[in-house]
Amino acid sequence: MASQQPRKILVTSALPYANGSIHLGHLVEYIQTDIWVRFQKMRGHECWYVCADDTHGTPIMLRAEKEGITPEQLIERVHGEHSRDFAGFLVNFDNYYSTNTPETRECANLIYGRLKDAGLIEVRTIEQYYDPVKEMFLPDRFIKGECPKCGAKDQYGDNCEACGAAYTPNDLKHPYSAVSGAQPVLKNSDHYFFKLSAPQCQEFLRRWTREDGRLQPEAANKMQEWLGAEGENKLTDWDISRDAPYFGFEIPGAPGKYFYVWLDAPIGYMGSFKNLCARQGLNFDEWFKPDSQTELYHFIGKDILYFHALFWPAELAHAGFRTPSRIFAHGFLTVDGAKMSKSRGTFITAESYLAQGLNPEWLRYYFAGKLTNTLEDLDLSLDDFVARVNSDLVGKYVNIASRSAGFISKRFNGQLAPADANLPAIRAIQEAAPRIAELFEAREIGKAMREVMALADGANQYVDSVKPWELAKQEGKETELHAACSNSLNLFRLLTVLLKPVLPGVAEKVEAFLNVAPLTWADAATLLAGGHVIQPYQHLMTRIDPKQVAALVEANKASLAPADASANTAANSAAPAKAAEHSPQRHGEKQQNEAQVAQAAAETGPHISIDDFMKVDLRVAKIVEASHVEGADKLVRLMLDIGEEKPRQVFAGIKAAYDPAQLQGRLTVMVANLAPRKMKFGMSEGMVLAASDPEGKTGGLYILSPDAGAQPGMRIK
Ligand code: MSP
Ligand code: ZN
Repeated sequence: MASQQPRKILVTSALPYANGSIHLGHLVEYIQTDIWVRFQKMRGHECWYVCADDTHGTPIMLRAEKEGITPEQLIERVHGEHSRDFAGFLVNFDNYYSTNTPETRECANLIYGRLKDAGLIEVRTIEQYYDPVKEMFLPDRFIKGECPKCGAKDQYGDNCEACGAAYTPNDLKHPYSAVSGAQPVLKNSDHYFFKLSAPQCQEFLRRWTREDGRLQPEAANKMQEWLGAEGENKLTDWDISRDAPYFGFEIPGAPGKYFYVWLDAPIGYMGSFKNLCARQGLNFDEWFKPDSQTELYHFIGKDILYFHALFWPAELAHAGFRTPSRIFAHGFLTVDGAKMSKSRGTFITAESYLAQGLNPEWLRYYFAGKLTNTLEDLDLSLDDFVARVNSDLVGKYVNIASRSAGFISKRFNGQLAPADANLPAIRAIQEAAPRIAELFEAREIGKAMREVMALADGANQYVDSVKPWELAKQEGKETELHAACSNSLNLFRLLTVLLKPVLPGVAEKVEAFLNVAPLTWADAATLLAGGHVIQPYQHLMTRIDPKQVAALVEANKASLAPADASANTAANSAAPAKAAEHSPQRHGEKQQNEAQVAQAAAETGPHISIDDFMKVDLRVAKIVEASHVEGADKLVRLMLDIGEEKPRQVFAGIKAAYDPAQLQGRLTVMVANLAPRKMKFGMSEGMVLAASDPEGKTGGLYILSPDAGAQPGMRIK
């Protein structure tokens, strides 16, 4: 692997959903990928790193609607936010694009057309829940109801968070639409399927997933489970179409049918690269033809393996394209040993980290120290974060330069003496460099960092042994002082080469201070010549004050205001698209981040987010009937028209303040998506809002009225 033959490498990270903020969990992936890409570039390889926002699907459509903007406006704004966050963490994409682009559409149409020509697309009628109020088919995650197993209320259409049972939405009891609160009806619709069950697909996937190096061992095992034993053919056809209204690409020749977001999302890798090719004069076909000699790597989280290791290679292979060389999946981030949590303030957004003035390279280094090439989860321990960064980066690494540089500037006009090429500390680094390169190549970044820090220990022992600060005080020790400081700065330069993929910002400052061209990996084999002139030392990195971390956590506890609400969205709305129909859950696999997502969504701080507020479906309701309830001294029975087929029955505790007769015909406000409640007198299917004095002293009770012109069923937000 240490071969220096220039390679042609295309690298991607997963495309983040365009309706959520980037958080520290995401950054595990983008920082990991960025480190690997920077390493490849330092090695002199031709390496391109592309990504994009994943912009299509129901959650994005509904989110835009809630915000009162078009999906295009939403994805444009988020594109700006994501680009800003990634740049803030020095994630250096060669192209950060969008899936909602002509290039991605063109590639999607091409792939679809070829699959169709190959006889791998089939149209089938399926029965699916439909929201009659919202007039749309509902993805599983937008249908709620009672768990068929344990009876827990308000469970999603795909699995129960109370008992863990997996099922289909049709199994739910008392289903209701999470969009409008309406009772969904089953309706037929034609859907387009990619025939993964076809023998050529099954055979191909069985072979491909077992090929050497394609998947990590753990991932390969999972795939075998999902594929089932030989002849078992567990894979079912993949539903790749969705009905209007949908934000996505309309399927050619199928008006009103759209590509399901997960069909065009990976194609977004191609779209982004195609766009880069046009700008860079690269030949797209050379990179994507079936026998391409170039390398293609996808870095992804383990939650989306299914899409990348099964659907995606099958699509590519049967549409006449190359398949990924390898898929690199990683585990999930926990903070202080637990899932990221809003109430604990550990659901930390990239934006808040930077806004609190924390140095992005602290996190890059900390993550680097934890990265492996397995699917294991990694933990950000906040105390350890402070300790590690302060001791390794400031105490060990930066310290070498800060203890030597001043003397070179003050006493030797910035000129270096020749370095001692046989100094054990120098030789140790130069001998270790190829080994460390192999660790980077193999994505054993944590191991690489441990080796680098052991070498930094060796460098510090050298500085401690020669004590420049004492030599400087003694007369006639000029030569020794000059040699000691020059050796130290050479040690520092060599360590900088090894750390540069992780700390590109620091490395740039070091290059300026050492007055050298951008460091490449080959520089680990060289030393600075005697007489080389350096610039005055400039400050490289401060220590973390634990108070800064405490403030960050505090800020994220309070960050549920609208400005940060998109962090919520990642939890509440982005996940549905991923968990929708074809997630491994349908195949009995629990997605790790689902639980995380559910927890994040369930927890709230002292404020609620706009999303939380939006969960309350408030409607203008017309009281078409109001009557006394036999045997109830507080209740009035209201029949409320909110534009549904039948009026809703609601029992309201307003008898003391209102005579039913005076209510009939007037408009008021109701909560339409409250879980129906069985009362002694019948079902209560909602709640009307009324104002009252908190202490109840006045005894007054006042129901609300909308202004003239409001119509029954209108949504209030
Ligand atoms: N849009 C899809 C990916 C489409 S790729 C063709 C998606 N988006 S996401 O925003 O939910 O996640 C983007 C990436 O971040 C995924 O690889 C996901 O695994 C990763 N992570 C999201 N949360 C994470 C953690 N808490 N920890 C580590 N990685 C995490 O999935
Ligand atoms: Zn249950």
